[in-house]
Amino acid sequence: MAWTYELILVVLLWILKITEGQNAQVTCVISKRCMLPCTIEPHGGDVVIHWYQAKNNDNPVHSYYLGKDQPFYQDSRYRGRTSLFTDLISPGNASLSLTDVKIEDQGRYKCYTSTTKGNDEQFVKVEVEGPFKSVDITLVTDTLTCSSEGLYPTPTLVWSTDPPSDTQIQPETAETQSNAQGLFSITSSVKKTSNSTYICTVTAGQTTQTSSLKQQSLSAKEGEDLIIPCSVPGANANLKDFTLTWLFDGNAKVLTFDSRTSQSEAYCPWKGHVKYTDKETAITLHNLNDNTLSGRYSCEVVTTKFRHLEETEVFLQSERGPGGPHPAAIAVPVAVVVIIIVGLVGIVVKKKICDATATAFTSENDNTACELQTDKPSSETGNAESQKLTNGQ
Ligand SMILES: *[C@@H]1O[C@H](CO)[C@@H](O)[C@H](O)[C@H]1NC(C)=O
Ligand SMILES: *[C@@H]1O[C@H](CO)[C@@H](O)[C@H](O)[C@H]1NC(C)=O
Repeated sequence: MAWTYELILVVLLWILKITEGQNAQVTCVISKRCMLPCTIEPHGGDVVIHWYQAKNNDNPVHSYYLGKDQPFYQDSRYRGRTSLFTDLISPGNASLSLTDVKIEDQGRYKCYTSTTKGNDEQFVKVEVEGPFKSVDITLVTDTLTCSSEGLYPTPTLVWSTDPPSDTQIQPETAETQSNAQGLFSITSSVKKTSNSTYICTVTAGQTTQTSSLKQQSLSAKEGEDLIIPCSVPGANANLKDFTLTWLFDGNAKVLTFDSRTSQSEAYCPWKGHVKYTDKETAITLHNLNDNTLSGRYSCEVVTTKFRHLEETEVFLQSERGPGGPHPAAIAVPVAVVVIIIVGLVGIVVKKKICDATATAFTSENDNTACELQTDKPSSETGNAESQKLTNGQ
């Protein structure tokens, strides 16, 4: 009865071979280069390689024999877009490189190889996706607009809030368009009716990207520490590989942090007065004056999957009692004296000075202090995108 076992073994190997042949699957990005894997058993002599799109066995996608590429019968849709790694064929690499990937390229491909050791067929399933990078969310007056482009296959866009609202958010407008390449762009607007976090989720094929936006206000007391939160909806516990950028009034950099390098950097005049708390991507402001304390602080957290924006309007709460001196009554003469001294000293020695209280908030390896700055940071330079976000606010 030994032959039955042998038969079963042969059938099992045959099934294994078939499933193995269908296993390879690649996702190619439209307009980019893509590699379709195929291997040959190492051999000495001549080799024949034919790549076919499985549904079209007549004209090959690419052919190679007699030691060179043979383009005569090539399917015209692939003209100029295919190549083999010719130097790597004899070590056993018959992979196909396909450039400028198109929507029509998706489907099943067959790699037929023939050597002195025998013939083989391998299959590769090719799926295509758009070069979908990010989702943008903007706020103008009380209208939130979410948009994305470079999408394939047909995208969907969903609005939600955090905390979730009882009623479904109905978009005011929603539009999907496709360009000549067959890539989709999508845009949708909603009215902002609460101070919840608004989340826009765009999905195309296997890829999902989200963008969220939140606005709030906080009151601060001069001389007291202030924590400004930046809470990525539902992601804080497993937030990784992100960049964080804190801006003031939409353009002046306050602090940046990159989680991959764990490097944070504070910028003047906040340097020495701002601390990254490492918790909920918030910052702590310490001992700031009126100019740099009240205003619009915004954080942006970016990963490959999402983008979160949070804007916090910080108001200064006056502490002074009826008879007490206005802080400016002390600060102004002190500042005038400091400016005069610095002006005189600065001519000879261009020395950087910083507020004495800064040291507590300056990390050990951070010895450079800020130039004395009496004005609000300039609004001319900076992040146009962030400005776009806050227009009309
Ligand atoms: C074939 O060679 C290319 C180019 O070096 C490489 O990227 C690819 O992984 C190789 N494929 C296989 C199946 O070995
Ligand atoms: C939202 O926050 C703003 C201040 O940023 C406040 O004036 C407004 O009342 C809040 N709206 C709601 C619905 O809570």
